[in-house]
Amino acid sequence: MTDKTRKIVIEPVTRVEGHGKVTIQLDEQGEVSQARLHIVEFRGFERFIQGRPFWEVPVLVQRLCGICPVSHHLAAAKAMDGIVGVDQLTPTAEKMRRLMHYGQMFQSHSLHFFHLVSPDLLFGFDADPAIRNIIGVAQKFPELAVQGVMMRKFGQDVILATAGKKIHGTGAVPGGVNKNLSIEERDALLKEMDQMLTWSLGALKIAKDYTVEHLAELADFGSFPSSHLSLIREDGAMDLYHGQLRAIDSEGETLFDQVDYQNYVDYIAEEVKPWTYMKFPFIKQIGPEDGWYRVGPLSRMNTCDFIDTPLAETARQEFMALTKGKPNNITMAYHWARIIELLHSAEKIQELLNDPDLQGTDLMVKGDRRGESVGLIEAPRGTLFHHYKVDENDQVTMANLIVSTTNNNTPMNRAVTSVAKKYLSGTEITEGLLNRVEVAIRAYDPCLSCATHALGQMPLIVELNDAEGQQISRRTTG
Ligand code: MG
Ligand code: NI
Repeated sequence: MTDKTRKIVIEPVTRVEGHGKVTIQLDEQGEVSQARLHIVEFRGFERFIQGRPFWEVPVLVQRLCGICPVSHHLAAAKAMDGIVGVDQLTPTAEKMRRLMHYGQMFQSHSLHFFHLVSPDLLFGFDADPAIRNIIGVAQKFPELAVQGVMMRKFGQDVILATAGKKIHGTGAVPGGVNKNLSIEERDALLKEMDQMLTWSLGALKIAKDYTVEHLAELADFGSFPSSHLSLIREDGAMDLYHGQLRAIDSEGETLFDQVDYQNYVDYIAEEVKPWTYMKFPFIKQIGPEDGWYRVGPLSRMNTCDFIDTPLAETARQEFMALTKGKPNNITMAYHWARIIELLHSAEKIQELLNDPDLQGTDLMVKGDRRGESVGLIEAPRGTLFHHYKVDENDQVTMANLIVSTTNNNTPMNRAVTSVAKKYLSGTEITEGLLNRVEVAIRAYDPCLSCATHALGQMPLIVELNDAEGQQISRRTTG
């Protein structure tokens, strides 16, 4: 950075879960040289967990994030299955955990779409921020606002029935689960099922029509070719709960496939940079410079060969037809992909509710204790890694987490840089620029709370600084 360069700081990134700050770096000609998404506070959760008994971890990790507790609960439980020497759960335990996970996916994706994203899609990026929010949606499209609330509640009811509590549940324990699904719980959820499927199909139409109608604009909005990573089932099906790792490049060529995630450290490493607490994961065989990749709904759509539920598979085929079967690298296509997963989750919940294994009573298995284990899950925001070492006194001695949002760190920085280069003019943070930076970040549905492994809130400010570091304006988005 030279003395002449100027910094524009945008903070907070509203309608993104948690809080963040964006700085846009200008060169001496006043052009954007780069933009960065910052995290401004950090308290280490990975150290906090050390010394704790391993069986507490699936409950403790839910304190990592008030937004994604279920994903952390399940990833940690999967890791602790390994610690108690279990590679295969009972059918009841595996299906109860899957039901919990699809409930989490359903509530998270519906919250994101209806509350956070639909104002951009329904009103456009340039609409007055006074109406471009959920209140505006509730006034102009009241049925959509109601659907969003009811769908989120349904997902939470699924979580409640499987975890015992809406948040900080204890449903999954090392080696299994501690409850099954009663007939009453099942029937209460089944009653809502048709409505949830119908509303999911309605949301799919909004997301698809929006993407297709604005394709030219969106293809040029914060988009770039990238590699993609996800878990994949043995037969190539999308599997949000379990599988092996598959990575492809921007053209769809396989980088690695069917990798046992216990060995992820042979394939994925994390780079540290001085200006942020968020790390930068990369594929080792490519290296830190170009080995970055994307995760989440867009990547899962790109990596999988098919989806094993009929409605979502039809939707996937329409999605992939847009890019003639090649990976879709349009950042804003995350929204359409996310809604295909919303529909898939509804279909999976229905399938599981009709499965008598959920009333089974064989909940736990035990094996020989191990000292180290990794648990991965496809969380709503993307691949989530939990890695632990446990000593002979049952205490955790090492924890490493790579959360979904961290996996998307480089892509989010690229998206923001691309948007800033295109839409910044002069030294003013215009409403239009601010909106577009938010829209680009929001496509990734980042959880900044998870990404820092922080145990608390982050400050909220908007600043515009000149070459000498003097603040010349402030702007908030809330
Ligand atoms: Mg970590
Ligand atoms: Ni989170």
